[in-house]
Amino acid sequence: MPDHAPPPADPSLLSAFRDILGPTGLLAEPDDIAPHLSDWRGLYKGQAMAVLRPASTEEVAACVKLCAAQGIAIIPQGGNTSMVGGATPEARPRQVVLSLARMNRVREVDTADMTMTVEAGLVLARAQQVAAEHGVMFPLSLGAEGTAMIGGLLSTNAGGNTTVRYGNARELMLGLEVVLPDGSVINGLRRLRKDNTGYALRHLFVGAEGTLGIITAAVLRLFPAARETATALCAVPSEDAALALFRRFRAADEGAVRAFEYMSGIGMGMVQATIEGATLPLSAPAEHYVLVDLSASREGAGLRGLMEGVLEAAMEAGEVEDAALAESEGQRAAIWRLREEHPEAQKRAGASVKNDVSVPVSAVPELIRRASAACRALIPGSRPVPFGHMGDGNIHMNLAQPEGMAAADFLARSHDIMDTVNEVVRDLGGSFSAEHGIGRLKTDMMESWRGGAELDAMRRIKAALDPQGIMNPGKLLPDA
Ligand code: FAD
Ligand code: MLT
Ligand code: ZN
Repeated sequence: MPDHAPPPADPSLLSAFRDILGPTGLLAEPDDIAPHLSDWRGLYKGQAMAVLRPASTEEVAACVKLCAAQGIAIIPQGGNTSMVGGATPEARPRQVVLSLARMNRVREVDTADMTMTVEAGLVLARAQQVAAEHGVMFPLSLGAEGTAMIGGLLSTNAGGNTTVRYGNARELMLGLEVVLPDGSVINGLRRLRKDNTGYALRHLFVGAEGTLGIITAAVLRLFPAARETATALCAVPSEDAALALFRRFRAADEGAVRAFEYMSGIGMGMVQATIEGATLPLSAPAEHYVLVDLSASREGAGLRGLMEGVLEAAMEAGEVEDAALAESEGQRAAIWRLREEHPEAQKRAGASVKNDVSVPVSAVPELIRRASAACRALIPGSRPVPFGHMGDGNIHMNLAQPEGMAAADFLARSHDIMDTVNEVVRDLGGSFSAEHGIGRLKTDMMESWRGGAELDAMRRIKAALDPQGIMNPGKLLPDA
């Protein structure tokens, strides 16, 4: 994507923002703005006249009012870990990035109601830590948890490793505070499990990717802390065996399965080759792996016995070839690292095209087989790297470039690759966007997947809430 020179900043506008935000709340120097203008993968670059860094909901509302009056577009940004360019501005004049990073307070933790009220800029790992300090747990977990923020996670309806047990970000949210595109504020920080009071507006903003307003705070659900865990890395002979193993664990004790993640031999090889200290705790490499993570809030739940019993039966049935059980927290973390480093390893191993797709859980093996074969046929020498959240049907059907091919030539085929994978996904009744969202990457797919009345209704909602189209333009919805 082309690099664009920043537009000349309008001094009177910058001083109006500075009046609202104070000297530390505004970035206007090119070097300060630069990190906010591109994405984690370095695929997109845009421009902005400034980065606004409000410290309170009132400051967000005042900035939005000013932007609305001046017709300035706003790109909300959390940790900027979007995989689809959602938080990267486009190359348009008269726009600002609004970073939530300074709004990172925990407003309240209530262990009677099992809720936590936090601001949008709180980093996920910190939210997990604060919950742990109160003897409870916030279960959302993903590789970017050290950087991604609550507002971004809700705005993308992030999934991650624990969806199989706790659901997506949406299911972990009870109430929201949102600044609308005209600067008015919805004060919806209710911590009620039941609240049928008209349209559930809070859910409209979850997954809206910053196109309908700015989430400034949220009430999150908490859960009892895990008192017992059991974690294993298994080598399995096939995709079908991986699914059979998942069904075994589900049948044995569905409530105990915290995560069930699939990895391929190619992906694991990339992690070992590119990530320092990543070693396989098995006797030999395999073509397919599964990470099983069990947890219980009750001490003496017998998870170790459950794990061993299920794996033993699976080995007898030929579904598992080898397995390593974590004997300590350190070993558990080392096993998880092999999984969590997949995105970084792929980044280091050259260009890759991401296909964040989902299918019914029963169709995951067929998805992996058919999409891998179709990609190899499309680009000989390319390396399918399927991995991810098998337990909820979300596989990252990513494709790495052939060794020796120019990255630009491979990336020029991105849309052919996505179309090839999506053809299989559609045939299996799946979705072309499982957890990362639409962002800039997939707007042009909306018409063919969600066209007709569904897309039309989305456009009418957008027009009703954001008639000027100032909220994150160019994202999620294709241009009319
Ligand atoms: P950003 O990237 O800053 O923004 C994401 C979108 O939300 C943008 O459209 C932005 O405009 C909007 N937005 C941000 N904050 C707000 C707000 N307060 N109000 C309104 N709109 C807002 N995702 C998963 O779902 N599961 C995974 O397992 C997973 N693993 C990842 C692993 C790695 C290594 C990386 C780099 C990313 C991964 N992601 C994953 C993708 C990413 O972390 C998620 O999409 C995350 O939810 C983005 O959070 P963020 O704070 O970085 O948001
Ligand atoms: C993950 O689960 O690690 C990411 O969502 C997948 C990716 O990097 O494609
Ligand atoms: Zn994922």
